[in-house]
Amino acid sequence: MDIQTIYQDTIKYAAGKHESTSQKVPGTNLPYVVHLSNVAMEILITSRHTDNFNLELALKAALLHDILEDTGTTKEEFESHFGADVTHGVLALTKNEDLPKEDQMADSLKRIKAQPLEIWAVKLADRITNLQKPPSTWSNEKKIKYHDEAQIILDTLGSGNAYLASRLSAKIKEYESYINS
Ligand code: NI
Repeated sequence: MDIQTIYQDTIKYAAGKHESTSQKVPGTNLPYVVHLSNVAMEILITSRHTDNFNLELALKAALLHDILEDTGTTKEEFESHFGADVTHGVLALTKNEDLPKEDQMADSLKRIKAQPLEIWAVKLADRITNLQKPPSTWSNEKKIKYHDEAQIILDTLGSGNAYLASRLSAKIKEYESYINS
């Protein structure tokens, strides 16, 4: 199947699942699929700057990265649609909510590191996409925390993709202008 058809089939599936929970892009009234397509856009452009990149795996993981965390989709249903590789990747990108909140990111990053580099790329692309002007309701403390988390993501996964590491590094610098020191 060509990558354009894969994109269309996957984004329809993802959009439907997130829409059924009325999920919005945080701080906006935009449907959540806007976030998913932004991550996919980063991945499509990254594929032109990355050798030996499995675009089908990365694109599916990008469009589906929040589906197990945020919608009622079961692992079994998901795996029957998308197969084992995409499922394992998306599971690594999914927080384990049984752990204390402060341990969830480190745990997910550890599981991402055991996955192919395309899954690392999705996590980098996700944070690049999310490092926009923070909602006006965010406290300075929350912005600092978000900034520091982004730096941990870069330090942990940046070696997996030079193009995305350089984009994330620039975005982190830009984000510092929203923080009062
Ligand atoms: Ni995301």
